[in-house]
Amino acid sequence: MGGYSNKVFWLDRGHDFQCAPQQLCDDQVPVEMGSLLPARASQNGLPLDFRGSMDPVLKVQELTVCYRDGVGSPIAAVNDASFELAAGETVGILGESGCGKTSLALAVLGLLPQGAFIRRGAVLFRGTNLLALSERALQKIRGAEIALIHQDPSLALSPFLRVGEQITEILIAHRRISSRQAREESKEILAQVGFNPDGNIHQAYPHQLSGGQKQRVAIAQAMACGPGLVIADEPVASLDAVLQFEFINLLQSLQKRLNLALMLITHTPAILVSIAHRILVMYAGRIIEQGPAREILEAPLHPYTQGLLKCELDLLPQDAGSWPLASIPGEPPNPKALPMGCAFAPRCSDRMEVCEARAPAESHPEKSRDVWCFKYD
Ligand SMILES: Nc1ncnc2c1ncn2[C@@H]1O[C@H](COP(=O)(O)OP(=O)(O)OP(=O)(O)O)[C@@H](O)[C@H]1O
Ligand code: SF4
Ligand SMILES: [Mg+2]
Repeated sequence: MGGYSNKVFWLDRGHDFQCAPQQLCDDQVPVEMGSLLPARASQNGLPLDFRGSMDPVLKVQELTVCYRDGVGSPIAAVNDASFELAAGETVGILGESGCGKTSLALAVLGLLPQGAFIRRGAVLFRGTNLLALSERALQKIRGAEIALIHQDPSLALSPFLRVGEQITEILIAHRRISSRQAREESKEILAQVGFNPDGNIHQAYPHQLSGGQKQRVAIAQAMACGPGLVIADEPVASLDAVLQFEFINLLQSLQKRLNLALMLITHTPAILVSIAHRILVMYAGRIIEQGPAREILEAPLHPYTQGLLKCELDLLPQDAGSWPLASIPGEPPNPKALPMGCAFAPRCSDRMEVCEARAPAESHPEKSRDVWCFKYD
């Protein structure tokens, strides 16, 4: 599976490990809830349609990402993906394990591991194709203009640096401000993610923090330089239900305040209910459905999306009993041996003869919806 290198956010200057002060974990203040909705709200609690700027901050065009594993031809982990993301907009990327979500994020960040390559496509960030930039130019953008929040916050935090130093170093590296100013700003940033400004979080080492606190520090790192785009890859997977809710609320309130473009990757649709404006559903490396979050959550079109939402009982619309799938039988296909036609065909109870003969093209059953399924041809 794709994993992140910690080279971007871990500014390791070879500090020696030092003994850490104790009792630093009880200094949080409640995070501003604003108008945020509970993650498992009723259907009336579905997110509002996006009404912000439509100038895309990110434009991914026909992106195909492959891995060479040394045996046979390269496998395509992401195939022909295209989407746009505007300032102030949250797009949820939804799909089962192995469908290519992380590979898509790594490709946008220019952090694909060795053996991976981009077969074709473009990643335009504010009009600049990131795929054409040198590593040096990309490093200036990563962490400053595009930030990443990992599933595992420990990957973003150096165990050898106090929390305050971790933020301060990012500010100094990207903004060329004085140490004193960076220290002051880091305190403000930590306060913005819910830590008590009078507490001692600044002096804490990561191992003294709970998982939820580490994830807050990771958000503070990501937001430190005021990025335009934040990519959060399964950011709540390691948190319990209460912390997941708090985290999503925090992310949403920061996103609104900073007018961020947010790409939120998850395999849990419930995470997207209150925060996503649009949803892209991926299956076997391809986007198979995309549209406004409210419409996808209330009336999914693709049989795979229907099955995925049906597994999440709270997300069922009232007529869900008529949907074809009680759950999704079988496994996602091996990317090395994809079926000839629709990749979902072996698991789809709606499949027709044509589904096994060729892959479906894009259909637009409604103006705002894209779906790749012969049912809507
Ligand atoms: N370094 C790698 N070398 C070879 N194949 C890889 C590598 N990383 C990922 N893959 C393959 O690419 C496909 C997509 O993987 P990816 O990690 O992007 O999926 P994902 O949707 O993020 O899954 P998860 O939800 O489990 O994180 C999978 O088939 C995976 O086995
Ligand atoms: S194209 Fe056919 S097999 Fe694929 S999801 Fe649609 S109906 Fe099912
Ligand atoms: Mg992943």
